[in-house]
Amino acid sequence: MVGDEAQPTAATEQLGVVLLAGGRASLDALAPAIKSLDLFVLTAHDAPTALASAAENNPDLAILCVDSLGPPAFDLCKQLREGRDLAVLMVSTSADPEVKVQAFECGANDILTDTTNEALISARLRSLLRYRKAVRELRAAYHLVAQRTAQLVKSNEELRREMAERQKTEAALHATEEMARRIQKVEALGQLAGGVAHDFNNILFVILGYCEILEVGMGPAAPLRDAVRQIRLAGERATVLTRQLLAFGRRQTMQPKVLDLNEVVEEMSAMLKRIIGEDIELVTALAPGLGLVKADRVQLEQMILNLVVNARAAMPGGGTLKLETADVILDEGFVRQHIGSRPGPHVLLAVSDTGKGMDAATQVHLFEPFFTTKGPGEGTGMGLAVVYGIVKQSEGSIWVESAPGKGTRFDIYLPLSGDLAARSSARMQALGIRESAAAGEAATILLVEDEAPVRELTRRFLENSGYNVLEAGSCSEAVLLHERNREKVRLLFTDVVMPKMSGRDLASILTRAHPGLKVLFMSGYAADILRGSGVTEPGVAFLPKPFTQEVLARKVREVLA
Ligand SMILES: Nc1ncnc2c1ncn2[C@@H]1O[C@H](COP(=O)(O)OP(=O)(O)OP(=O)(O)O)[C@@H](O)[C@H]1O
Ligand SMILES: [Mg+2]
Repeated sequence: MVGDEAQPTAATEQLGVVLLAGGRASLDALAPAIKSLDLFVLTAHDAPTALASAAENNPDLAILCVDSLGPPAFDLCKQLREGRDLAVLMVSTSADPEVKVQAFECGANDILTDTTNEALISARLRSLLRYRKAVRELRAAYHLVAQRTAQLVKSNEELRREMAERQKTEAALHATEEMARRIQKVEALGQLAGGVAHDFNNILFVILGYCEILEVGMGPAAPLRDAVRQIRLAGERATVLTRQLLAFGRRQTMQPKVLDLNEVVEEMSAMLKRIIGEDIELVTALAPGLGLVKADRVQLEQMILNLVVNARAAMPGGGTLKLETADVILDEGFVRQHIGSRPGPHVLLAVSDTGKGMDAATQVHLFEPFFTTKGPGEGTGMGLAVVYGIVKQSEGSIWVESAPGKGTRFDIYLPLSGDLAARSSARMQALGIRESAAAGEAATILLVEDEAPVRELTRRFLENSGYNVLEAGSCSEAVLLHERNREKVRLLFTDVVMPKMSGRDLASILTRAHPGLKVLFMSGYAADILRGSGVTEPGVAFLPKPFTQEVLARKVREVLA
C-alpha cells in the first residue's frame, strides 16, 4: 500500500508537508528546496493516500506534483482544502493560463511551472509556509478571543444576576422598613388616640351628666330645653367616637373568653346576610375542628361587622363576600415578612370580597383613624382603626391584600388559645368520630416535634382526623415510644430540624428496625434548605409548615394508602 510509504523525513516540530509525488521529475526538482527548508515531509503516490495522510497528520502545506493540471488534480485540491487549514501548491511543468485560473478556483494557493530555479522554489515554499503560519496564529488568536469573550459574557451574566438579586434584596428590605415605619406610626397614633379618648371620656361624662341635670331641672316647657338636648345629642355622638378611639388605642375594656371563631361566624351569618343585601353572596368556608382563641366575643363581632360593612361598600354592584377560617402555624419566614406577627399556632379568619379593591396609597393609611376615601358624612374612617385595635388587643395581627379592580382580602391571625380544657369539643368530636369511622380502624401515628405548641396543634389535627397519636418531643423519646409500640405504629410523622438529632436520622434508625414503617416529614424551612438533607427527594413524603388540618389529613391518607 502506498500509505505505508508516507514517512516523516525529520522528527522535529517543523512545519509539515504532504507531498503527492505524481511526477518523478518534479519531485526530484523540488527535493533540494524542501531539504533546504528542513520540512517534515510525508510522501504519497496517489490521491487517496494523500488525503488519508492529510487527515491524519494535519499538515500545513500540500504539494501536488502532477504531470498535467486537470480535473483529477483539481478534485484532489478541493478535497484537501475542504474543512482543513492547509495551503496547496500545485506543481506542473505544463499549464496554460486558463487551466491555472481553474486551479486557483479549486483552492490552489500557488502554481509552480518552472521547476528549474531552486532559489525561486524555496522562496515560494517559504512564502506559502509563512502564509500558513500566519493563518494558524490568527486562528489561535481568534480562538483565544472567542474564549475570553465567552468568559466575559458569562461574568457579565453573573454580574447582572447578582445585581438583580441585590436589587431584589434591597427592595425587600425597603418594603420591610416601610412596613415597620407604617406600623410604628399606627402604634403611636393608637397610643395618642387612646390617651386622649380616655381623658375625653371623663370630660364627656361630666358634660352629659350636667345636661341630664339641666334637662330634668328645666321641665318640659322651658324655652332653652331644646338647646340643652342638642348639647346632649352632640355629646352622645362624641361618646361613640371616643369609644372607637379607645378601641383603636386598645383601651377598651375587654372580657376575653376562650371561643370558637366558627361559632361566632355561624351565629352572625344571618345578620350579615341582611346587612349585605341580596346582590352580594355570602360564602363561608369554616375549617372543621378549628382551634380556639381567647378574645372578647363582642369585640370579634364588631371586627367582623366592620370588615363586612366595608366589603359591602366596595361591591355596590354586587359580588361575593367570603369568610374563611383555618388553623395555621406561622413560621419564622412568615414572621420575618410580617412585622409584628408572632410564630406559632394561630387561627386564621380571612374576609375577602370581589369588590373594587384599593391602590397602594390607600393601603398605606388603611388602619389610621379618620382615614376614609368616602365623601363627607359617609364614613368616619374609624372602621378599620377599630378592627386594628381589636386585633392587637387580642394579640393577633392583620394583613391586607388588594389591588384596584381585584377585590380585597383581610387576613386576621389570632393566637391559638392554650386553654384546651375549655374547648367546645362536641362538634369536633363528632367530626373526629365520623372521619375515623370512614378511615376504618384508626391508625397509630408517632408524632415527633420539639416545639410543644406546634406538637399540640398537630396532635389535635391528627386526632380530629381519627388517628391515634403517640407524641414525642425529642428523637430519643421517639425511639423509646417506637420500641414499646412497634406493632401499632404505622407512620412516623416527624419534624426535620430538631436539636441533637435530625428527623432524617431518626427516620433511618426507625425504618431500619421496622421496614414497613411509613415516613412523613414536616418542616418550616424552605424546601431548598432541606435539599441535600434527602428530605425533598422523590419518594420521601414531605409536608411544609404551616399546614391546615385538611391538608395534613389528605397527606397522611396519601402516605398510608
Ligand atoms: N373591602 C374594602 N375594599 C375596598 N376598600 C376598602 C375596603 N375596606 C376598607 N377600604 C378602604 O379603606 C378606607 C378606610 O376604611 P374604614 O373602615 O376605616 O373607614 P370607612 O369605611 O371609610 O368609614 P367608616 O368605617 O367609619 O364608615 C375606606 O374608606 C376604603 O377606601
Ligand atoms: Mg368602614
